[in-house]
Amino acid sequence: MKLAGLEVSDRIALPPKSDYGIGLVGCGGIVNYAHLPAYQANGLRVVACYDQDREAAERTAREHRIPRVAGSLDELLADEGVEIVDVAITPGAQPPVAERVAAAGKHLLCQKPLALEYADAVHLVTRAREAGVKLAVNQQMRWDAGIAVARQLIAQRAIGEPGDARIEVSVRTPWHLWPWIAQSPRIEVLYHSIHYLDAMRSLFGDPVRVTAVHGRAPGQPEVGETKTVTVLEYDGPLQAVIDVNHHNWTDDAYARFRFLGSGGIVRGTIGLLYDYPHGRVDTLSYQPNDEPRRWHEAPLATRWIPDAFIGPMASLMEAIQTGGEPVTSGADNLGTLRVVHAAYRSATERRAVNPAEIAAMASATT
Ligand SMILES: NC(=O)c1ccc[n+]([C@@H]2O[C@H](COP(=O)([O-])OP(=O)(O)OC[C@H]3O[C@@H](n4cnc5c(N)ncnc54)[C@H](O)[C@@H]3O)[C@@H](O)[C@H]2O)c1
Repeated sequence: MKLAGLEVSDRIALPPKSDYGIGLVGCGGIVNYAHLPAYQANGLRVVACYDQDREAAERTAREHRIPRVAGSLDELLADEGVEIVDVAITPGAQPPVAERVAAAGKHLLCQKPLALEYADAVHLVTRAREAGVKLAVNQQMRWDAGIAVARQLIAQRAIGEPGDARIEVSVRTPWHLWPWIAQSPRIEVLYHSIHYLDAMRSLFGDPVRVTAVHGRAPGQPEVGETKTVTVLEYDGPLQAVIDVNHHNWTDDAYARFRFLGSGGIVRGTIGLLYDYPHGRVDTLSYQPNDEPRRWHEAPLATRWIPDAFIGPMASLMEAIQTGGEPVTSGADNLGTLRVVHAAYRSATERRAVNPAEIAAMASATT
């Protein structure tokens, strides 16, 4: 589609070969309401699934017509029809399982956060590289319509030089969908703003300093932070602000982005967060400085859930067939994790943190 004469698209293309046999490890919420609908809509081939809760695996297989239910991880990994393993289990359990997948010579798609600790993520990325398999992380917000089209516009200099980037979210989050999150001492940035931090990196690259303030809502039952402000500073004039509150119990919820530059602005809404996990289509409008008062509206049609979930899997498949790297490779994701952990360190120590500190600290302790 054309927007103010610029070519943009919210469609996600599959690579030439997309019939790899996919095996699932973990058959919980996200697999059922996001991964499998996206894979089915795109004709992907899910051949087997496994969950430590056998009933969850059997129910998922029945509802999504998956031919084989494995009785153990070893059984799934021994299945020669499984070429890519989609690991979607609770994050603390992910690194040891993913390491076994890599050792079995299967390519893998992991969920965010790749690991709870930065050093464990580095270890896993190293193991996958040594095993000669591709590892992608499911940071699918990069393919969400509003963010993807904003990125295409920014890359075409539609807003000139970026100076002020904002993602502002104030919603009521259904934490009950993830009982394991409520007990976590770190919540908001590790499980949620990680998407915004990764999206900002995809739009503008790596920040040089991170400053964060973390808080809790009055009387909240969750242990960790649910209200955060993260400021990313870049080399040059750009500043990015991510401002999130998960305890907005009013009907005045919002989830929006604004990317302002020397030549214009792109702004819009993140539809998913208005009614998770159903959501709605994002909105995006663009105003160039030389057309004051005129807003060009993008006719977006795809949703974060399920449509954007095809992005990381398609990119992983492309990397397998070209010998390249997935867009959200494990190595790239270490950059996002450095920003995540820089935000926690900043909030604790009340100072600006260079993400390079996180890498330096991890290598000093390994
Ligand atoms: N937009 C997103 O990217 C997004 C959204 C939601 C969840 N997630 C991520 O997806 C992952 C799963 O989340 P969910 O909401 O589906 O959680 P869930 O609790 O609904 O499901 C997790 C499933 O994993 C199974 N499991 C746990 N440990 C296992 C192990 N060692 N071996 C086999 N099975 C195991 C459980 O039995 C359960 O069925 C998490 O990492 C979460 O952070 C990502």
